[in-house]
Amino acid sequence: MSTTQLMVKDLVKRNGRTRNSLMPVLQGIVQEENFLSEEAMLSVAEELDISVAEVYSTASFYTFLDTVPRGKNIIRVCKTITCHMKGKDEIINALSNALKIKVGETTSDKQFTLLTANCLGWCHKGPVMLINDDIYPDLTVEKALDIIGAYSQKPK
Ligand code: FES
Repeated sequence: MSTTQLMVKDLVKRNGRTRNSLMPVLQGIVQEENFLSEEAMLSVAEELDISVAEVYSTASFYTFLDTVPRGKNIIRVCKTITCHMKGKDEIINALSNALKIKVGETTSDKQFTLLTANCLGWCHKGPVMLINDDIYPDLTVEKALDIIGAYSQKPK
């Protein structure tokens, strides 16, 4: 049995073998592996005795349940109107150039994934980005690059 299958088994054991466990189990997998692999989704369907289609549709409905591999640090730059007007494009371009990836991509060393997000609730302090669970308001290009630099120096 693969490590993914074992992890799914363990999550199902902890959350219970019922239909209601689907979300917590999927979230648990994303926490462990950073994304939902095909293998993990198949295992969940088998363990919870539900259809693979149901697992897929739940996963694609919730955008935070990533189904493609992600980096260790997930950057989400707010793209909604206030942050847009306050210069989110410059921030995204600067991050994209510094990391050499486009929005939606992951760096080859798997350290960063660059994404956009809808309003993060910090409009009065835009432009704003979220890295993992940490919010960074009042961004300038310089500030955004410094923040990324600090993450790059964290132990891998
Ligand atoms: S518009 Fe960016 S945080 Fe609300």
